[in-house]
Amino acid sequence: MIDFSTQYLGLKLNGPIVVSSTPLSESIDNIRRMEDAGAAAIVLHSLFEEQLALESKALDEDLSRGTESFAESLGYLPDLSDYHMTQEVYLEHLRRAKEAVKIPILASLNGATKGGWVRFAGDMEQAGADAIELNTYALATDKSQTSADMEQQLLELVAAVTSAVKVPVSVKLSQSFTSLPNLIVRLEEVGARGVALFNRFYQPDFDIETLEVRPTLHFSKPSELLLRLHWAAILYGHVNLDLAITGGVHSAEDVLKSIMAGGGVAMMASALHIHGIEHIGRVLADVRYWLEKREYASLWETRGCLSRRSVPDTSAFDRGNYIKTLSSYSLRQTVAAF
Ligand SMILES: Cc1cc2nc3c(=O)[nH]c(=O)nc-3n(C[C@H](O)[C@H](O)[C@H](O)COP(=O)(O)O)c2cc1C
Repeated sequence: MIDFSTQYLGLKLNGPIVVSSTPLSESIDNIRRMEDAGAAAIVLHSLFEEQLALESKALDEDLSRGTESFAESLGYLPDLSDYHMTQEVYLEHLRRAKEAVKIPILASLNGATKGGWVRFAGDMEQAGADAIELNTYALATDKSQTSADMEQQLLELVAAVTSAVKVPVSVKLSQSFTSLPNLIVRLEEVGARGVALFNRFYQPDFDIETLEVRPTLHFSKPSELLLRLHWAAILYGHVNLDLAITGGVHSAEDVLKSIMAGGGVAMMASALHIHGIEHIGRVLADVRYWLEKREYASLWETRGCLSRRSVPDTSAFDRGNYIKTLSSYSLRQTVAAF
């Protein structure tokens, strides 16, 4: 029997597949099905900085207005249960998820700037979260923002969250940083235990008839995995924190590639929306079959075997790869295609 155990954020996991943050985990029934199908851990859907900041601001404003006159305040004091709806519902859901399954549950906070809202990480920990995944989606849309400013903002945010909790914190990162290895070492210095590679950028689409800009969400394609594999393979062995691969993991081959690149876990969201939660079980069976056929004793022994530090020719990951790839597409092929 193949040993499937893996590690991520210091948590011992019983397999390589973690369910990434998605609305599928808003249902306790789905969470049970994920565990039954073989998920090693689940990242819950996110709570957003904007939601949390708005709730606490509205509550503060209404409470201070309420002190002016008790009688008057009765008219406009908010129904406190409404204000705590989002936060309280999330925490209650987290508690119920913890009761429903034995596998680790990671809570997800989604934000960009340091602020009072990060205290909510502590509430998530109190409610039983085994770890916090911090999704840091920030875009530089102002020409005065430098790359250094963006990185500093991120580091301050991560430091604020890691100092608010004792449970491990992983950072779901954007791919758009000039020097990822350097940034990741600094994330480690401010207390992050892992990084999830990468956050997907959701670009809005343009409707040229109505002249509107519309949000669009497409499920991922396996081709998106290559970018993640490339960076995991470069980082593995050079940074101490754990790597999770998220984006384009659909099949057993994708899971194996993620671990071979150096990932501790492979995360899935789109594949479960497309094929259903039970897809996890089918993928795990295929991973097992592949390893057994090649007489591996454990999945873990494959970890990092295709990383930059393990392969004889590192040019595959560097500038050499760029030149080779372009020159491999010969003029003859181009002519034949037309
Ligand atoms: C419908 C949907 C909702 C998502 N919501 C969140 C979210 O709330 N927070 C988050 O960090 N990621 C969210 N994601 C991103 C996924 O967690 C994942 O990182 C991304 O989809 C790439 O993985 P995939 O290729 O397995 O889909 C969402 C993805 C989908 C498809």
